Amino acid sequence: MGCGGSQKPAPPKVDDDPPDPTTGLTLKDVIMIENSWKIIGNRTTLKQNAVGFFLILFETYPHMQDRFVLFKDKTLDELRTSPEMKAHATSVFYALTSYVDNVDDPEMLVGLVRKISVSHFCKKIPADDFDKLRIVFLNFVKYLLGDKYTPEIEQAWDKLLRAQTAVFKQIEEEMLSKQETQEMPKTDI
Ligand code: HEM
Repeated sequence: MGCGGSQKPAPPKVDDDPPDPTTGLTLKDVIMIENSWKIIGNRTTLKQNAVGFFLILFETYPHMQDRFVLFKDKTLDELRTSPEMKAHATSVFYALTSYVDNVDDPEMLVGLVRKISVSHFCKKIPADDFDKLRIVFLNFVKYLLGDKYTPEIEQAWDKLLRAQTAVFKQIEEEMLSKQETQEMPKTDI
């Protein structure tokens, strides 16, 4: 007769969707990012959304607008219809498209982010600006998705953009230590 003592212990909980050790993204995050980009960055919406995003970014952080020679002295209304603004915003959103296309391939994703990081380190963009962009982007995603928005989508993009800033900081360290080595006075030894 059973006295309840022979029940099997519950099996240890296995995390069936572990975060990638490099990017921190789970498979669920990858799917959230890919699906939301179908709305934000598809062929018909990408250019308009890209300009819309930059207008909000520059309105929130005018010092970022000042980093662009072509945009520095323009009003936001002028930028709204500027072909150069459209070209720049679109090239940034194409860079994001290439992140999304490779979000399930950590090695490639990190390679893409490292390239952008080197080019921006050379433009003297601080890591803090990448972080500011992250917050504006997350709000923009929420606004664009409307009733399709979920906190899980926001969390997935947040992870991706935090991973970008982390890689940027790594590149900063690498480049600065390279510069220090190159600036070392030569000795005869
Ligand atoms: C998600 C983050 C970002 C992405 C994916 C991105 C992407 C790009 C791309 C693809 C270009 C054109 C190619 C190049 O010069 O590398 C570019 C240029 C540039 N970006 Fe970014 N960027 C990001 C964040 C930022 C931030 C935070 C700033 C701060 C102001 C910034 C400032 C610039 C500037 C000044 C240029 C040069 C524009 C020109 O002279 O034509 N970017 N960016």
